[in-house]
Amino acid sequence: MTDRSTGAGDRADHWDSAYQDRGTHGVSWFQPDPTVSMELIEMLGVSTDDAVIDVGGGASLLVDSLIGRGWSDVTVLDISHTALEAARERLGSDAPVTWLDQDLLTWSPERRYGLWHDRAVFHFLVDAAERETYLRVLRAAVAPGGSVILATFASDGPEYCSGLPVVGYSAEDLATILAGTDFEVVESRCEEHTTPGGAVQPFTWVAGRATR
Ligand SMILES: C[S@@+](CC[C@H](N)C(=O)[O-])C[C@H]1O[C@@H](n2cnc3c(N)ncnc32)[C@H](O)[C@@H]1O
Repeated sequence: MTDRSTGAGDRADHWDSAYQDRGTHGVSWFQPDPTVSMELIEMLGVSTDDAVIDVGGGASLLVDSLIGRGWSDVTVLDISHTALEAARERLGSDAPVTWLDQDLLTWSPERRYGLWHDRAVFHFLVDAAERETYLRVLRAAVAPGGSVILATFASDGPEYCSGLPVVGYSAEDLATILAGTDFEVVESRCEEHTTPGGAVQPFTWVAGRATR
């Protein structure tokens, strides 16, 4: 559970309000179909037997696609209780999903995953110490030979999202960051995400494999 007596509590309140105010389908990052994620998962050869974690997955429909295509060990971690409850309600209590109501930056993984997926979380870490923490958790959470998919705003993307400052990255930036975390990027994509309000936001996607 997120500790609401710390700064993490402020973060949780911020994200809960975002989902409550706009609804899960009205937030700017809503996408009706996780096309790029599923294409990269296939390209990486992630097996349906592999454990998958969607960090900062919120109310994303990626978990629905994974379960629908046969994955049986899926974890969604998010700081927003509101978003996780919406996703949990949508999928039903029988779905093979572990819901982790956690701040990624204070979380200690208790097991390892074959795939770490992050769409639009890493770019909120504007503080170098937070990025270091994130990368330490990523390294600890991914099994040897496992995979990572990271999607951030592009270098020429928005400077703010949900009222918070963000850092945009090129594929080369992300490849360098991941190389320092023992991952080799094997594929990258540029994507233009259209928000529910019709704004276009350039994203950078990278997919990589652990080198250890
Ligand atoms: C821009 S949204 C993206 C949601 C989802 N990945 C998607 O593609 O729809 C960012 C998500 O990260 C979550 N988040 C932000 N900071 C977090 C943290 N420190 N730990 C865990 N989740 C966090 C938010 O609650 C929100 O669901």
